[in-house]
Amino acid sequence: MPGDGIGKVVLQEAIRVLDAAGFEANYVNGDIGWDFWCKEGNPLPDRTLKLLQEHKIGLFGAITSKPKEEAANELDPSLKDKGFTYSSPIVGLRQYFNLDICVRPCKSYKGNPLNFIRRGADGGVEEPMVDVVIFRQNTEGLYGGVEWSNPPDQVYEALRTHKKFVQNFGNVPKEEISVSTRIFTKKATERILRAAFEYAQKYGYKSVTLCEKPNVIRETSGMMYRMAKEIQKKDFPQIPLYNTNIDAQMMWLTKNPEEYGIIVAGNMFGDIASDGFAGLIGGLGFACSAQFSADGIGVFEPTHGSAPKYADFPVSIVNPMAMIESAVMMLEYLGEYEIATRIRKAIAAVIAEGKVKTYDMMKMTGKPDVIDRGAASTHQMADAVIAKL
Ligand code: NAI
Ligand code: MG
Repeated sequence: MPGDGIGKVVLQEAIRVLDAAGFEANYVNGDIGWDFWCKEGNPLPDRTLKLLQEHKIGLFGAITSKPKEEAANELDPSLKDKGFTYSSPIVGLRQYFNLDICVRPCKSYKGNPLNFIRRGADGGVEEPMVDVVIFRQNTEGLYGGVEWSNPPDQVYEALRTHKKFVQNFGNVPKEEISVSTRIFTKKATERILRAAFEYAQKYGYKSVTLCEKPNVIRETSGMMYRMAKEIQKKDFPQIPLYNTNIDAQMMWLTKNPEEYGIIVAGNMFGDIASDGFAGLIGGLGFACSAQFSADGIGVFEPTHGSAPKYADFPVSIVNPMAMIESAVMMLEYLGEYEIATRIRKAIAAVIAEGKVKTYDMMKMTGKPDVIDRGAASTHQMADAVIAKL
């Protein structure tokens, strides 16, 4: 599912790397994204859902999302005023297949000029090696979509009549209220917690940190913390469980990022924590992710979007590493450990050598002239990885 903009470019490069590493697969193209919204009024056509249902494993590039009015304007004239409304196909995909486990590794590569550095106690410069994997609940919580402006009567009544809520909201007119709920279910919470502990066990991470806010958000974060303690005690007593608050975690991010292993959180806080840690290891050019469902459907994608600014450059300049790393996560999911390890080592070798770097790694502003100024193109970066395999 290449999608839009640079999604198309980076996916193609990742597949070249997979081929060169000897991964044998047939790739079936899945239509998704802006073109299909404009032409068909649906950015996530049913035929794509059927394909993924049948084949189970998806590589996804990125899509373009635009605000409501713009989306309506770009719709094919024959489809206008027919009741089509745009919604993000990647969010749609997550919801349709219940891809409730999202995994976002943030691991520094030695020699990456974008690695985080800090001042040490002696005044010198330290470059802590980060190796954190964030487990984010992907379908519920604040992104679960249960929200209203000018809420229905039942919701309004609950605010107006509950003795705890009435003080703040009892006298506010209905039209002046917007509500976004944060619903956690035990089933989904248990799944993300267990996934985090199982991963820690399998790959030898020293600890699991729950990153929520149970002292304030008592019901949802509180439930997650209680369940985490129970699961740890019963099934993973050898793996220590730590509890941090999301706000404090963001502060500690630059203080001691090397001390964390697995981090597990709900949807919103998992999103925040993963962007925070991704910033320490090189940012969007390096941030990869995997998401999967209980029935084994897996979709692997870079965290970045379609970067429309760069999509039409004569030679693509964006960093393909996030997409290549996402493809490596797919290999691990499929149990293709040998090929996965070989590609990881090749990436590490390219970065350690430091000869081939995309514009972001050279801290340049993304313009077509970066190629003339010595930055590698997307294609050359993938070539460099292939050469090291
Ligand atoms: P973006 O991630 O597309 O780009 C933001 C900036 O990050 C770029 O301008 C570029 O400077 C840098 N960047 C992104 N990917 C890079 C790469 N591989 N190598 C080097 N630099 C890179 O986010 P933006 O601009 O906020 O959104 C653009 C479009 O993408 C929007 O339509 C948005 O809705 C969509 N989007 C889609 C996502 C998805 O498909 N999962 C996620 C995020 C945004
Ligand atoms: Mg995000």
